[in-house]
Amino acid sequence: MDVAGKLIQNHELSREEYIDLLENWKNPETAKSLREAAVKLRKQYYGDKVYTRGLIEFTNYCKNNCYYCGIRRGNVHAERYRLSREEILDCCEKGYALGFRTFVLQGGEDPYYTDERMAEIIRSIRRAYPDCAITLSIGEKSYESYKLFKEAGANRYLLRHETASDELYQQLHPAEMLLSHRKQCLYDLKSLGYQVGAGFMVGSPGQKTEHLAEDLVFLKELQPQMVGIGPFIPHHETKFANEAAGSVELTLFLLSVIRILLPKALLPATTALGTMDPRGREKGLEAGANVVMPNLSPVKNRRQYDLYDNKICTGEEAAECRGCLERRVASVGYRLVAERGDALV
Ligand code: 5AD
Ligand code: FES
Repeated sequence: MDVAGKLIQNHELSREEYIDLLENWKNPETAKSLREAAVKLRKQYYGDKVYTRGLIEFTNYCKNNCYYCGIRRGNVHAERYRLSREEILDCCEKGYALGFRTFVLQGGEDPYYTDERMAEIIRSIRRAYPDCAITLSIGEKSYESYKLFKEAGANRYLLRHETASDELYQQLHPAEMLLSHRKQCLYDLKSLGYQVGAGFMVGSPGQKTEHLAEDLVFLKELQPQMVGIGPFIPHHETKFANEAAGSVELTLFLLSVIRILLPKALLPATTALGTMDPRGREKGLEAGANVVMPNLSPVKNRRQYDLYDNKICTGEEAAECRGCLERRVASVGYRLVAERGDALV
């Protein structure tokens, strides 16, 4: 049996076998067999349902300086903004009326939002929307902070590991950022009972097949409930401005691989995929993804949450991403549902 067949049968491969598999991503037969196995699994567990999360990008201040990111602290041209608790609650109110039952609070690592301020925001959302899931995506914090947020009412946490290779991690981040700490955060979050989302960029500068193999080994070990992956896209105010973007095809291939690796996982068809290809999110769903994360941020600030160039859904016309995604999801035979969409395990 070839490695693709072995993955489909065992839901796991060794590092060397992943390398073997990934070296074949351009082989249409391999890609097709993985895609079919992935879709079969997603239908077995989730039928034709696609879950939706309302993304509220509440601050673009960040104390970190990740080399790939448009809102890193070193970008003096970034126009910074913060949302007040009231503005965040307004986003939730609009979102709830549109059918969102999960709110994702995403932001840079912004010291203005102290643990107490953050906990207060979480408590307010929890009080007003007892039937909704609250997801945080605010970076690396201490065990105690994560515990406080959990007690305040948060249920889930997204923290992409970005790459599971120490070598590549160091090429993408300044020396003060450590992969070991990021991994520790993910394990802390799991032990506190959060549903956890990890993930990585595909085609980040310097990324090799071996690095992606390590991502897959790490994901199988961590067993996250969610995995967010998207192509790297250069931002003009970063040192990677002139680097090539990641491949949509390889991202889709990896989505299928991850669906087979973690059959019950929640896998978003990401905004980065939609940015690189007008049908990127639809293709993501066809490769095994089962979540979409439309933007619920105030239209006036969307342009400012500028992680990479040409990010979609930032104009006036994108005021209503939910309707847009509902149509897109239906166009590939799936159904956007108004449910919390908790992980199956
Ligand atoms: N291209 C693609 N994805 C990016 N992210 C940050 N910068 C970029 C970029 N230039 C992703 C990171 C982060 C998530 C919020 O956005 O993976 O975790
Ligand atoms: Fe935002 Fe289509 S999802 S405009």
